[in-house]
Amino acid sequence: MKRIAFFDTKSYDRRSFEAKIDSKEFEISFFEARLSPKTADLVKGFDGVCAFVNDTLDTRVIDILKRENIGVVAMRCAGYNNVDLKAAFNNVHFLRVPAYSPYAVAEHAAALILTLNRRTHKSYLRTRESNFALAGLEGFDLHGKTAGVIGTGKIGRIMIRILRGFGMDVLAHDPYPDQEYAQHEGFHFVDLDALYARSDIISLHCPLTKETHHLIDADALAAMKPGVMIINTSRGGLIDTKALVAGLKSGKIGYAGLDVYEEEGEYFFEDLSGEIISDDILARLLTFPNVLITSHQGFFTKEALANIAETTLGNFRAFFRGEALDNEVCYRCDRPECRKKREGRCF
Ligand code: NAI
Repeated sequence: MKRIAFFDTKSYDRRSFEAKIDSKEFEISFFEARLSPKTADLVKGFDGVCAFVNDTLDTRVIDILKRENIGVVAMRCAGYNNVDLKAAFNNVHFLRVPAYSPYAVAEHAAALILTLNRRTHKSYLRTRESNFALAGLEGFDLHGKTAGVIGTGKIGRIMIRILRGFGMDVLAHDPYPDQEYAQHEGFHFVDLDALYARSDIISLHCPLTKETHHLIDADALAAMKPGVMIINTSRGGLIDTKALVAGLKSGKIGYAGLDVYEEEGEYFFEDLSGEIISDDILARLLTFPNVLITSHQGFFTKEALANIAETTLGNFRAFFRGEALDNEVCYRCDRPECRKKREGRCF
């Protein structure tokens, strides 16, 4: 029986994991606390750790994991930008869930577009107050407009299909463009300048890396069409939020739909309705009538939660049985003997 320390637990995590767990194989201790240098000592006596998007996995935490002989951390998410893989390399194996439901995230991005455009969130409140007036609810036809998709991996590709389904022309950007796929799906790869200049809606589906940090900065915003709609369901750090606020204030940015925010760690996933928001940028964003913020819920569907639990438990099983770790992420190494590198699977 292997003992797992599970951090940042919510009721829905517990439910989805308990539905899949074999109690003879794993015993999970569900901690509400996030993993951080302050809480990392909780891992004492466990065989593995399960962490999520806003847990801290920096050098300080990884040193504690090493000290406590934790050989494996299973991230119950796809992104791993919060992990110091260099510090973990050779000591702690990091596993992830590469795909649990790309549909969940792409469909949420589409929901943000439709809500912002047709203002259904406002209509809902109005009609409940017996206000049946239409003034201020005018939208635009998506049909015939141009969408720009940045990142054409699993989620970006589903998003492209949805947008094509609306009758939109789609432009895409990716450092690894699959031209055959683009031809098959009826969209075009272009450089970022062309994407910014021609898109009415821009949706981000690339990972957060050193290269993509603040990809959408003041210069990028300046290059976009006036009134553009920006949708971010990827990672908050892709957007320089101060520049976004300036763009919204000047009217250059027509709409922003954000499921992620660069400083979301302190706020998202928690009920803080009785608290004061000390983050002035988040507070300012929440005042714009043309901004819709959801708190990192893109992944949050029944199907995705079930897949996350199944893959995470499978990742732990493979590690403890000494089997191949297909879902491992590791620091990009230069070791010729690295099996992953030989197989072209080095991240
Ligand atoms: P993926 O790995 O399948 O695709 C990412 C794509 O981005 C790849 O095609 C890659 O070539 C491309 N890319 C890399 N650097 C780029 C750059 N500089 N410019 C443009 N494209 C670039 O990843 P997947 O599954 O599609 O997920 C995308 C992102 O969505 C994840 O990195 C994660 O941050 C986010 N995500 C958000 C969730 C939510 O709940 N809101 C849930 C799951 C993922």
